[in-house]
Amino acid sequence: MALLEVKKLGISFGGLRAVDDFTMTIEKGDLYGLIGPNGAGKTTVFNMLTGVYKPTDGSIWLDGENITGRSNIEINKAGIARTFQNIRLFSNLSVLDNVKAGLSNHYTYSTATGVLRLPKYFRIEKEMNERAMELLKPFELEADANVLASNLPYGKQRKLEIARALATQPKLLLLDEPAAGMNPKETAGLMNTILTVRDDFGVTILLIEHDMSLVSGICEKLSVLNFGQLLCQGPTGQVLSDPEVIKAYLGE
Ligand SMILES: Nc1ncnc2c1ncn2[C@@H]1O[C@H](COP(=O)(O)OP(=O)(O)OP(=O)(O)O)[C@@H](O)[C@H]1O
Ligand SMILES: [Mg+2]
Repeated sequence: MALLEVKKLGISFGGLRAVDDFTMTIEKGDLYGLIGPNGAGKTTVFNMLTGVYKPTDGSIWLDGENITGRSNIEINKAGIARTFQNIRLFSNLSVLDNVKAGLSNHYTYSTATGVLRLPKYFRIEKEMNERAMELLKPFELEADANVLASNLPYGKQRKLEIARALATQPKLLLLDEPAAGMNPKETAGLMNTILTVRDDFGVTILLIEHDMSLVSGICEKLSVLNFGQLLCQGPTGQVLSDPEVIKAYLGE
């Protein structure tokens, strides 16, 4: 069974058909890319997959379960986590606490346990700290654990967002332009990190990206959106050499 099945997905904003008749299948373990020109509807697809927008048409299936129309929180619990095109971190919290915020879904104690500092509180806090430090490792952020998120350089903030999303233990991780604003060296490092995350955490990844070195370097399959419609889909090499894709998207 596929991990994610998107069937004839569509959404309209007033008169604008932002995404139309979009179908895509992602298998467990895929590193899959969603590409297309500015305004093509890529982020809108992520917003529908994560329950930020309710689709006007079509359906979304995760691990055989119909999650169409569920709330953002329910979909995260079902196993989809994401990062945002514009970084969204808790800027006044430390790097470690940002990751712990992601972990908190999985560790709970009663208010009384927290207020009274009962033994369970200390045990859970210790476990969460250890787990959060582990999640910082692949992103080389351990040394920054106590730094305020807002004081991190931009490239590290983007990595922290991925670590925080991973903390929710998703089956499917959605990355919206993870390399945006990064220099070529940072992008190359990020590519390795994304591959490591997929392999070591056993997570399936769907990413939106404009950086073609990243897309062709790590994505195994691609879907191309153009004006809200699917233009082409398949193995990366095949898609990137498709004349329609070159004409519409690469344009050069
Ligand atoms: N909430 C909304 N209300 C109205 N129109 C919207 C809304 N969200 C997105 N759109 C429109 O839908 C279209 C697709 O936008 P979207 O952000 O999905 O594009 P994108 O492919 O992610 O582009 P980019 O590469 O620039 O990030 C655009 O025309 C956008 O203006
Ligand atoms: Mg976008």
